[in-house]
Amino acid sequence: MHFQRALITGASSGLGRGLATWYARQGVTVYAAARRTKELDSLRAEAGEKIVPLTLDVGDGDATEARVRALDAESGGLDLVIANAGVGNDVSGRAIDWPTVKRMVDVNVTGALATLCGALPGMVERKRGHLVGISSLAALIALPRSATYSASKAFLAMWLEGLALDVEEVGLKVTSIHPGFVKSEMTQKNKPEAMPFLLETDEAVELMGRAIMRGERVYAFPWQTATAIRASAAMPRGLRNSILRSVRK
Ligand SMILES: NC(=O)c1ccc[n+]([C@@H]2O[C@H](COP(=O)([O-])OP(=O)(O)OC[C@H]3O[C@@H](n4cnc5c(N)ncnc54)[C@H](OP(=O)(O)O)[C@@H]3O)[C@@H](O)[C@H]2O)c1
Repeated sequence: MHFQRALITGASSGLGRGLATWYARQGVTVYAAARRTKELDSLRAEAGEKIVPLTLDVGDGDATEARVRALDAESGGLDLVIANAGVGNDVSGRAIDWPTVKRMVDVNVTGALATLCGALPGMVERKRGHLVGISSLAALIALPRSATYSASKAFLAMWLEGLALDVEEVGLKVTSIHPGFVKSEMTQKNKPEAMPFLLETDEAVELMGRAIMRGERVYAFPWQTATAIRASAAMPRGLRNSILRSVRK
């Protein structure tokens, strides 16, 4: 599908910023959403007038759904929506705190669904549009210190799986993307040795953009990490968990 108008959340840095630039270069009008307006203005200065900055806190689900629904009407119809905004922290269950859990669920689950739900009615009516959620390889198995993050990304992926069953028949496309480690603000605090097969942001953006173009239903990358994660998902739980705990140490 050739896109005309895209909404990308989390466009102020990392993968979202890279995707916004990638689509703007192809002539797509990109509504680039995030909280940091200054970063969005610098994105427009870098990537040009195809970028339309949109200050939006997806942590407020009701306001996000209403804003996206209004944008869909005002803009003449979004044909690509990428729910990319996300937060991730390594937090041990032994020292977990409710505000961190709540924020991750608000942004990664409620915020992502509010973004996609805001665009859905218009897309269904037009029988045209592509909905994309940026999940994670962490959605495929439970990882130590990542209970909330893994669960939030699994929620998004399963929701997209179900949504596809309902909307593909009316002509919509649904893609769930599961990245492994990619350089970004989110991963800059991690030790490089703890991030096997770490990708440059631009490399990841190219892979994701092409997967969306092919209309992949589910896209997990890089293949090395995706294969290892899928193999561990198939292991008996006891064996998998003892490997994960020893690797993590
Ligand atoms: N990097 C990786 O290795 C990796 C791996 C798997 C999955 N992912 C997923 O990829 C997505 C992008 O992450 P990234 O690696 O590019 O991280 P990043 O550089 O930290 O970008 C996160 C983006 O989300 C936005 N955001 C956070 N909270 C928000 C809120 N309440 N409202 C609106 N926007 C908000 C941030 O913008 P503001 O702060 O300006 O609002 C920022 O633009 C996330 O969903 C992440 O979980 C990343």
